[in-house]
Amino acid sequence: MLRHAGKILARSRFAIAFTGAGISAESGVPTFRGFNGLWRKYRPEELATPEAFQRNPKLVWDFYRWRMKKILDAEPNPAHYALAELEKIGVLKAVITQNVDDLHREAGTENLIELHGNIFRVKCTSCSYRENLKESGRIQNFVKSKDLPKCPRCGSLLRPDVVWFGEALPREALERAFRLAEKADVVLVVGTSGVVYPAAYIPYIVKERDGKVIEVNVEKSGITPIADVFLRGKAGEILPKLVELVRGSK
Ligand code: OAD
Ligand code: ZN
Repeated sequence: MLRHAGKILARSRFAIAFTGAGISAESGVPTFRGFNGLWRKYRPEELATPEAFQRNPKLVWDFYRWRMKKILDAEPNPAHYALAELEKIGVLKAVITQNVDDLHREAGTENLIELHGNIFRVKCTSCSYRENLKESGRIQNFVKSKDLPKCPRCGSLLRPDVVWFGEALPREALERAFRLAEKADVVLVVGTSGVVYPAAYIPYIVKERDGKVIEVNVEKSGITPIADVFLRGKAGEILPKLVELVRGSK
């Protein structure tokens, strides 16, 4: 199976990856669904919707600051590095991620599309102000603070620059992702339950155009029914092996 997947990737013309929370699980970032998933302990509608933020911005900000801290402590794992490596050797053309944790970027992936935003960015609820807290160097103080964060330009409340339930995905990112999927002949799907749309259309678009779907997951997902190769196991263990096979058969 692994060998077969390696061959498909090595022979591909335009391969892309589509990733979800499972790729960061081995870095210690909690996933959303499944065993130990965040949505088992917390209710998404109380924490990750625009209505929840209007009702109780403090609760939502406490939750996001807690996640920011967890993610700040996390480092990319061998799965993130493996995808960066596949890009470097010219096999992978882009990584489309549903994750907001920045770990693909830290691992060195260059052509990265973040469909659900980035947890280290904030944006104003009234004006067009946006800030990347890692780049501005404010992140350490920001996570420690207990106050509601305010816009330095207009004084309104800041919010995380992530996509909440019921919100549209950033248009440019989604269009780029769809264009890549239309062009791709292989998609490597890693660590996603494949149940959140429109993101989950990505592998279906590739499949519809006769592209191959390779999936890496510890269990079956919403994508498994269309997978040509399903590799069961941890992303951090399987992806480095896959890179070796791709190198070997190129
Ligand atoms: P989920 O939490 O729904 O799914 C995580 C997937 O990773 C599951 O299929 C697990 O089986 C798999 N998994 C766990 N550990 C793994 C490992 N070590 N190696 C490989 N696979 C592993 O996360 P997503 O599919 O990313 O949206 O969730 C999609 C969206 O739902 C998220 O982007 C988020 C959430 O609500 C927004 O915040 C908009
Ligand atoms: Zn503002």
